[in-house]
Amino acid sequence: MQDLTVHPVQPADQDWVREITIQNWGSEQVVLHHALYLPHQLPGWIARRDGDAVGLLTYHIDAAACEIVTLDSFQPRQGVGTTLLHAVRRSACQAGCRRLWLITTNDNLTALGFYQKYGFQLCGLYCGAVQQARKIKPEIPLLGENGIPIRDELELEIWL
Ligand SMILES: CC(C)(COP(=O)(O)OP(=O)(O)OC[C@H]1O[C@@H](n2cnc3c(N)ncnc32)[C@H](O)[C@@H]1OP(=O)(O)O)[C@@H](O)C(=O)NCCC(=O)NCCS
Repeated sequence: MQDLTVHPVQPADQDWVREITIQNWGSEQVVLHHALYLPHQLPGWIARRDGDAVGLLTYHIDAAACEIVTLDSFQPRQGVGTTLLHAVRRSACQAGCRRLWLITTNDNLTALGFYQKYGFQLCGLYCGAVQQARKIKPEIPLLGENGIPIRDELELEIWL
């Protein structure tokens, strides 16, 4: 298997990031815990294998905290997600952040396993928060992974 490499998102990648966001997150907007993000306008990392993009992570830094906004692996269970987490962790440390965090939803059992395996800990449960998010982004589906109703936001963090 070819080596995985990571590359910072460049201005020339913005249209591609926008396309990926629409494809995987239903529109160019991502709504997390009342905040609206446009991932194609955020810093990020692209994972490549043999020249092909195999994953994308976007993030937002606010003071001493770095929030992962989107993370998509196009080659599941082959280390892409972990490699992108290593990259954003390095970015957060270089920016002087003390905390790396993210929001996921109750249905996303894969993400909950993935982040906890990496070392993230659950630190917040926002019951019913997705209903609020749907007021801003109606495209959020009612059902998620395994047909589980998408209702609640879960916050995970890792201290740097
Ligand atoms: C979550 C996601 C980013 C993980 O990416 P990935 O490239 O598969 O991650 P890795 O290969 O680095 O996996 C690392 C570990 O996470 C865990 N993991 C990943 N996918 C898993 C799954 N489907 N079930 C159980 N554990 C899983 C495993 O412990 C895995 O290690 P292992 O394969 O050695 O057992 C990917 O599943 C994805 O893109 N999901 C859809 C988008 C999404 O939900 N993003 C997160 C939003 S907050």
